[in-house]
Amino acid sequence: MPEIINQSNLLTAMKKTFTFCIACLMIGFTSAMAAVNIIPKPTSVVERQGAFQLRNGLTIGYNDASLQPAAAYLQDMLTRATALRIKTGKKGRIQLTLLAPDPDNEDYELVSDKSGVLITAHSYRGIINGIATLRQLLPDEIESASHVQGVAWSVPAVSIKDGPNFHWRGLMLDPVRHFFSVDETKALLDQMALYKLNKFHWHLSDNEGFRMQVKAYPGLTSDTVAWRHFNGHDRQCLDRAAKENNPAMLIPWKFFKEVEGYGELYGGYYSQDEIRDVVAYAAVRGIDIIPEIDMPGHNGAACYCYRWLSCTQNGVEPLCLGRQSTIEFAEKVYDEVFSLFPYEYVSIGGDEVNRRRWSECEECQRRIREEGLKDVSELQAWFTKRMERYFNAHGRRILGWDEILEGGLSKTATVHWWRGDHPDVTQRSTTMGNEVVLCPFTFLYFDYAQDDATLRKIYDGDIVPVDLTPQQLRLIKGMQANIWCERIPTEARMQWMVYPRALALAEKAWTPRPQQHWNDFLTRLQSHLERLEAMGIQYRPLHTKRP
Ligand code: ACM
Ligand code: ZN
Repeated sequence: MPEIINQSNLLTAMKKTFTFCIACLMIGFTSAMAAVNIIPKPTSVVERQGAFQLRNGLTIGYNDASLQPAAAYLQDMLTRATALRIKTGKKGRIQLTLLAPDPDNEDYELVSDKSGVLITAHSYRGIINGIATLRQLLPDEIESASHVQGVAWSVPAVSIKDGPNFHWRGLMLDPVRHFFSVDETKALLDQMALYKLNKFHWHLSDNEGFRMQVKAYPGLTSDTVAWRHFNGHDRQCLDRAAKENNPAMLIPWKFFKEVEGYGELYGGYYSQDEIRDVVAYAAVRGIDIIPEIDMPGHNGAACYCYRWLSCTQNGVEPLCLGRQSTIEFAEKVYDEVFSLFPYEYVSIGGDEVNRRRWSECEECQRRIREEGLKDVSELQAWFTKRMERYFNAHGRRILGWDEILEGGLSKTATVHWWRGDHPDVTQRSTTMGNEVVLCPFTFLYFDYAQDDATLRKIYDGDIVPVDLTPQQLRLIKGMQANIWCERIPTEARMQWMVYPRALALAEKAWTPRPQQHWNDFLTRLQSHLERLEAMGIQYRPLHTKRP
């Protein structure tokens, strides 16, 4: 029997319908709002009604030949998950437009409506930043490496104006303590590009191995220098893998090699062709690579290989700075670094040098006398300055860990402040006129254990020291996190340690401090965890017992 609707029933029904419609509108509206969850937080976002749908036959246009790699990169990325036919050309519904070129200007604007998306910028990197935002405006599934069906590939209508607070936003990876393949390295670069991290600091040599092929010194990447027997850290990883039943702590078989007379050794290195390939891959994504060949300390692998490099000729680091052959070695190695990495900065490392050995070495002592130096700290400073002149003569700028300040430093060197327990470093460096990249271990060592409070500590922390004058602040180039890999043997473990911390870093470095709000970040982060999942990243959940 049909229900008889009296007036009051009708009124109730109308009210319900009205409330339902309002709710629908609200849901529609909030879901449109929810779709705009960008990390790092942009300078300004205006959301409007409507959306642009990606469809078969879409063209990605670009107005300048220099943007062709960016268009191809975007085409590839959009095609993988959507399986749509997407072309590149001069004009397209997605348009990349380079305005009057200004290579240091990383700002961009992105305007989308139902007819398309326009990204404008004054530099290649600005366009790449716009592409990162476009990626984040699309559904999470866009990050999938393979076709995902049943997704409406739409970009909400927005007007975004955006630009970074700091120009140095980086990650440092240590493939020496544990090795990472070219593909694993490229995957990290892809992730960096999504979060507008633009500096990849590659720590390519240390005591445990040498990872860059150097044609002048082939021994550095020979079977017993680039590969090794298990060390204490390997055993710690394996113990932990067993104790926690955690395969991410196992040492991957793919990096083992049978070496005659030695058995199974662990390691690897990057050939010069592979390095060129990684450099090109990073360049397309707007990322500079800062290579580090650590000298005069932290180079036990080189000293083990070429015994004449060390004071006692017994293969123990640091380099003997009294010997001319060592200086020649350094120059020849850096020559090859310069030829492979076309970037402004090269890191000399310079950290944690056991200078005591120089006190006991006749040749080092002779150098100290001849150069009129006071002590072994000044001997390291002499070496750093000499190398800096060499770097400069090759059009490069030198950068090193904050120990390079000790014994004196030229004004043009850049300092990586890592010793968070030496808070005066940034104050001293900037007083002396040196530029600084912030990576204090107290906040930004991503190999350090984490708990549920770590992310907020990074996000709310004063990574930029609060006692700097405006003039000193101008010398802060930016910040980076360091991923030391003594206890990170696999990509899965790396991801666990790096994510979601890297998203907090990205926002700390991009968004001005007054616009950083923890609760707002946390809300946006929730949706990014799904995006990380779509990328196959094994991030650390926000609440978990495992460090
Ligand atoms: C460092 O952590 N030794 C730079
Ligand atoms: Zn010596």
